[in-house]
Amino acid sequence: MSEKFSLTVNGSVHSVTADPDTPLLYVLRDDLGLNNPHFGCGLAQCGACTVHLDGQPIRSCITPISTIGDGKITTLAALGTPEKPHPLQTAYIEEQVPQCGYCINGWLMTAATFLRDNKKPTDAQIKDALVDLICRCGTHGAALRAVKRATQQA
Ligand code: FES
Ligand code: FES
Repeated sequence: MSEKFSLTVNGSVHSVTADPDTPLLYVLRDDLGLNNPHFGCGLAQCGACTVHLDGQPIRSCITPISTIGDGKITTLAALGTPEKPHPLQTAYIEEQVPQCGYCINGWLMTAATFLRDNKKPTDAQIKDALVDLICRCGTHGAALRAVKRATQQA
């Protein structure tokens, strides 16, 4: 049975009515029109649906809306702006990473928290942090270079 939930997303409070088991991803995309998080696998295997919950990356495809509570959600839409892009966004452009672009939400949202917590990571640490992300277009090498580049700009 549907229930009412109050969600704080990108600094705004939204009221939504949904079944408690509804994945957060569906609510963000279908109810709030926030289409940066993507449906890739639906099984927490690819990362395309990643958002931040209280500053930590989560896979919204397997996160029931009823588990969010008072947590603050951030999507890629709030990571940077065209006028003031996040260093990762700048680096992605400079390294010409995107191909189809479908996976990029997951890489950026995962790397953003990693770089926030690791100012001078080694190549091995970067690789390890992003190992659970999938890109069907094979941009992995370029994505790792972009994250490395972002560490020099941050
Ligand atoms: S869609 Fe959520 S991890 Fe793949
Ligand atoms: S750029 Fe196409 S899936 Fe990654």
